[in-house]
This record gives sequence, structure tokens and C-alpha cells, in this order.
Amino acid sequence: MCGIVGYIGMRDAQDVLLSGLAKLEYRGYDSAGVAVRGVEQIEVRKKAGKLANLQGELSGAPLPGTLGIGHTRWATHGLPNDTNAHPHATEDGRLVIIHNGIIENYLSLKAGLRERGHVFRSETDSEVLAHLIEEKYDLTGGDLYESVRLALGEVRGAYGIVVTHVDHREIVAARTVSPLVMGVGEGEMFLASDVPALLPYTRRMVFLHDGDMVVLHDDGFRVTDLQGNTLTRSIDTIEWDAEAAEKGGYDSYMLKEIYEQPQALTNTLIGRLHDETGEVNLDINLDPASFKRISIIACGTAYYAGLVGEYLIEQLARIPVEVDVASEYRYRDPIVSPETLAIVISQSGETIDTLEALREAKKGGARTLGVINAKGSSMTRELDDTLYIHAGPEIGVASTKAYTSMVGAMLMLALWLARARGTLSEEAGKELLHATRELPRLVEEALSEERVSRIREVAERYAHARDYLFLGRGVNAPTAFEGALKLKEISYIHAEGYAAGEMKHGPIALIDANLPVVVVGTESRLLEKTISNVQEVRARAGRVILLLSDGDTENAQHADDVLYVPRSHEMVSPIVNVVTLQLLSYFTATHLGKDVDKPRNLAKSVTVE
Ligand code: F6R
Repeated sequence: MCGIVGYIGMRDAQDVLLSGLAKLEYRGYDSAGVAVRGVEQIEVRKKAGKLANLQGELSGAPLPGTLGIGHTRWATHGLPNDTNAHPHATEDGRLVIIHNGIIENYLSLKAGLRERGHVFRSETDSEVLAHLIEEKYDLTGGDLYESVRLALGEVRGAYGIVVTHVDHREIVAARTVSPLVMGVGEGEMFLASDVPALLPYTRRMVFLHDGDMVVLHDDGFRVTDLQGNTLTRSIDTIEWDAEAAEKGGYDSYMLKEIYEQPQALTNTLIGRLHDETGEVNLDINLDPASFKRISIIACGTAYYAGLVGEYLIEQLARIPVEVDVASEYRYRDPIVSPETLAIVISQSGETIDTLEALREAKKGGARTLGVINAKGSSMTRELDDTLYIHAGPEIGVASTKAYTSMVGAMLMLALWLARARGTLSEEAGKELLHATRELPRLVEEALSEERVSRIREVAERYAHARDYLFLGRGVNAPTAFEGALKLKEISYIHAEGYAAGEMKHGPIALIDANLPVVVVGTESRLLEKTISNVQEVRARAGRVILLLSDGDTENAQHADDVLYVPRSHEMVSPIVNVVTLQLLSYFTATHLGKDVDKPRNLAKSVTVE
């Protein structure tokens, strides 16, 4: 995540930066920093911890100036300390940058720069970018825009970047993946990662696109692509009030977070998968040869991510896996040994059942790994290793983007284990790695306007049903469970999720003309069997809402309503498919007038037993 603010104009830059950062602190609070351009130099102040630490330092000794950049950090490379905090300056202090995102090839760039005499102070990939731009700055005879452009041409990865130099009254910025929005004032210009930071100053905004570069002056801006061609970008007038702005203009945090999934998944995957070598780099100290079985422990939605993980790890890495709900694991006297790897999955890192289960596993001598979203949460302090999912803060009580990112992390873990154990052919490994890389694009496609309005139409048609049944098989059985959980959580309609083949052993008794049955029938080895289950529902007059892969017209005849989803590799399909079910629940609940962000009786983080 991380948040960026930039300002050039006639106001006190420090004030604008600090007020903007306060609005962006939700994007990360590992450290905060500002750089303000004075007459002879650019002054940088940065502090580990929350923004209040930086505010405290600046209140005694404010930085005068009317041009500046600021940052609030969610650490990826390097510890969250003062040195690794942004902004980063070159050795002579004349050029200062802030960078969000991950530079995938930073190690090779760093090695080259070191050979050419550059000295590094921090462990961050961002500092590498500062030195690279400095090198280009000398080459171009002091052209700041051109030096940023040339440096970015050598970079692989994701970035939102802002750069300033003591010799220029301008800010140069660029983005790929990480968001940046520009605020247009009278004789002043603003930049930020998100709209709320700019609303106190202007409502005229330019949303920069992927691959855009921009140069900001006091009285205007110029947008180009990375080849240097000038681009036209429209100025939108934002009508949102402050609360709507925090929801990014969406009606609820839940909807915002559903739409954030392509970005969240990119953040989960980025820097961890290498196409050319097929390598998976998870930055954990775990020795894949040190355990013989895996125990996955979690609650609720995270538990379903664990069930997908079980399927993936057993299929790909051939290690026995068991999955437990944490509240049961704690009390069932589980068999644990030093040959057990216990994986806990949690968005908040605070769920008490999961935390206590983690302690139980440790007591038995298990090695522990967490798949966690919240940095510095209680679980991360007790785990041997943490694989952060980097989904960003999730505010809606019903989990959406954390779920898809958790499954993304489990997928990478399964690939990593399979590679280490040699259980997957090189070809199959590369194919799956490629399919995984495609996920953000596929989820984006699953969220296309046309699909969303179709989901809405179907949701509203069945919104007054009393009960719902969700069915899926194989790796998509947990997709059905998660679909049912989402629906009951936010619409209060009773819903059951079942493995499709299990239906005939009981739930089939529920089927009549009033029961909508949602079936995940996307391409898979078991599709024919799933369709047989659909026939069983139809034979009893049940109403079938069938998720099919794009282009599957043949099976459409078996459904009352079809929801098409983008085609994806079976192993990654739970991530693509669940998006449609999240939206189905969302539109059902909003049609019924429910408050989706704060469903009754639920809490975001359950810290009681
Ligand atoms: C469902 C939901 C809950 C959580 C569960 C675990 O939408 O949000 O079921 O998944 O309470 O929470 P974490 O992941 O924070 O441990």
C-alpha cells in the first residue's frame, strides 16, 4: 500500500503534506516522512511508527518551503525503521524521491550502481531508484523529467513515484500499478495516492493511468507516456463528500474492496514469481525438507482459504494437509510434532481462536507460518515466519479482498513447495505460474460492467428467497462454502454451502421450486459430474444459477440463469470465481436494504472466544 502526497504552490508545503498524510494513514503506518525544498537544499524528516511521531518532531522545528513530498509507509523491503522510511535522498541530498510498490529487479540494478561507485544507506528497493535517477540526471545534463523517464525504462515492477531536485521548482511523478491522482488548483498543484488527501484543497482532479508520467509546476502540469509522448488527460470534478471519498466513491467499503481485488492481488503476487526461471521467492526462512505434514488453522473466510490451500498443496506438492477451524483445533488435543508445519491464516492477525491455536501448535513443537494481512499484529509476533498477503486495510466486515489474496498466497506457497520437492514438471510449473500471474487481469475482467450488471439482475430476481444452496466440487467446493457464508453474513438469508457430490446425502431434501441453487460449474476435470448434480437439482424443480466459463454454451441449457466468468486454469479458478459470488451477495443485501459494511452481530476482528 503506502501513501504519497506532493505539493507545489504558495501554501506552506509541510501543512499540506501532513494533512494529506493523515488522510492516507490507512494505507500504512510503519513510518512517515516529508521532504520540503528550501532555498539551498531539500530538508528531509522521517520517523518510524505512526504519523504522530513525525508530527511531534516537526512541531518543534518546522520545515519552511512551498514545495514538498510526503509518504506514509507499509513496509515491503527492509525493516520499518527511520533509515528505511521515505523520502530517500541521494548522497549529496540534492535529489529526493518517494516510491510506492516493488522494484522486482532492484538487486541487479543495485549491483551495477555499486560497481559504479554509489553508496547505499538503506535496504530498500526505493533507494536504488534514487541512485539510478541521479545517474541519469548527470547523463542528461540536469534534465529531471528525462532522467526519471530513462531510469524507469530500466525498472521492472510496480511503482508510484515522486521526485524532486533542489535545482528545479517542479515535481516529477509516474505510476504503474500503484495509484496516483493529481489535484489541480489555482497557482498550485497536488498529488496523492487517494482522493481524500486532496479534497480540503481542490475538487478538480486528474486520475493518472498506468504508465503515465507527469511534471507538476505551480501553474500547471504535463502528462506523458514512458516514451515521452504528450498525453491528454481530462480533469474531473469530484462531487463526493469526505465520507464518500474515503470509500473511493463507492457506496460501501465492501464494494470498494471487491473492486480493489485486482490491485490487492497484484500486491500479493508482485516480486514473488519469476517467469523466466519459474522460481517462487517468498522471503521466508522455512526449510521445505523440515516437515512431513501440514496443519492449516483459521476461522471463517480465512478457513475457506485454508481449504483451497489444502487442495492446492496436496495436488501440487504431495504433502499431507489437514485443515481445522481454530476454535476446534485448540480443544481437540491435536497430534503435533516438530515434523508438523502449522499454517495459520488471518486477515487481522488478532482473531483469538486462531492465536490460541497457534500457541497450541507451538506447544507441540510445530514450526509455524502465518498467512497474514495486518502488519505487526499479535500473531506475527509469535510466528516463526510470516507470508504477508499485502491486500491493504480491509474495513468492510465481510472479507472479500483479503480472501482472494489469501488464496493467492496459498497458491504461491503450494508452487514454492512443489518446486522445492520436485513434484511438478517444469512445464506444468511454468504454466501454473503464468496462470497465477494472469490473476489480477482475470479478476478485473470478472468485474467488467456488463458482468456486474448481469449479476445484479440475477441477485435481485432471487433476493426474496428464504434459503439458498451453494454447490461446488474439488478446488471450488470452498468457493461454494465462501459464497454461502458471504450471503448469510450480509443479507441474513439462510444459505448452505456443500460439496456438490454430497448434496444427495441430505441437502437434496431441501430442494423445491423456491430454492435457488448456485452451482460453480466452471471448466474442470469434474465438470461433467457437477452437471449431473445440476440435473439432480433440476429434476426436483430447484432453480439453478450456474457459473460457467466464458464460451460454455452447451451447459447453459441446464440452468435457469447463467453467470459467465472468465476462463482460468482450474487451480487458480477459485480466485476468479468467488468474485461473482461476492457480488451476488452484495446486490442481494443492498436490494434488501441491509448495511453491508456493518452486518448485524458481526465484528471485523473477533478477539473474544
Ligand atoms: C467473513 C469474515 C470472518 C473472518 C474470520 C477470521 O467475511 O470476515 O469469517 O474471516 O472472523 O478473521 P481473520 O481473518 O481476521 O482471522
